[in-house]
Amino acid sequence: MDFSKAQFERAYGTFSQLPASILPEIVFSGRSNVGKSSLINKVFNRKNLARVSSVPGKTVTINFYSVGGDAKIVDLPGYGYAKVAKTEKDRWAKMMEGYFNSGRNISLVVQLVDMRHPPTADDIMMIDFLTQTGYPFIVALTKSDKLNKTEYKTRLEAIKTELPTVEKDRIIPFSALNGEGAETIRNYIIKYSGGSK
Ligand code: GTP
Ligand code: MG
Repeated sequence: MDFSKAQFERAYGTFSQLPASILPEIVFSGRSNVGKSSLINKVFNRKNLARVSSVPGKTVTINFYSVGGDAKIVDLPGYGYAKVAKTEKDRWAKMMEGYFNSGRNISLVVQLVDMRHPPTADDIMMIDFLTQTGYPFIVALTKSDKLNKTEYKTRLEAIKTELPTVEKDRIIPFSALNGEGAETIRNYIIKYSGGSK
C-alpha cells in the first residue's frame, strides 16, 4: 500500500449514503478532540489530509479517503462531546450501528484514547464492542508528548489494567508532534489490509 496516495473522497452524513464496501477499510475511532485527524495526517504523512480542528464536536460525518486502489480510510465522527445536542448524539449512534453492522470489509480499527487520562466510559464501550465483535483493532494512546517521563510510564502501565481485554503490544503510545508510534501503526495497517508495502 502506498501511504502517500491517500486522498479525501467524501463526507457522509447518514449511514444509508455510504458507498458499497469493496476494498479493505481502515477505521479510525475515538472521542472528539482525541487527535484523530492529527493521527491520520501523521500516519499517512500528509499535512492537511484530515482537518485538525480547534473546536471539537463540530461535524457528525463519516469521512472516506482512498489510498490508491488498495484500501479506504474511514474517519468516524468523534463521540463524547458534552455540548452536542441529543439529536446529534442519536444521529451518531445510528451511524455507528449502521457502519459496524452491515457486513463491511473492515480490516482494522484504530481506536484512539488520550494517553493523559484513563479511558472514558465511551472509550470502554467502544473497546468492549470491538472485543465482542472480533474486528481486529489496536489502541493508539494519543498526545504522548504531553506527558513527562514519570507520567508516561505510570499511564502506560495503568492503561494495561484499565483495558484488560487488549493485547499489550496492541496498545501503542502515539504523538502527532514527534511521530512516536506512527511506524508501528503503519505496520499494523499493512499487516491487516493485505498490502505488501
Ligand atoms: P474532532 O475531529 O474535532 O473530534 O478532533 P480530532 O480527534 O480529529 O482531533 P484533532 O486532530 O483535530 O486534534 C485536536 C487538538 O489536539 C488539536 O489542537 C491538535 O493540535 C491537538 N493534538 C492532536 N494530536 C496531538 C499530539 O499528538 N500532541 C499534541 N501535543 N497535541 C495534539
Ligand atoms: Mg477530526
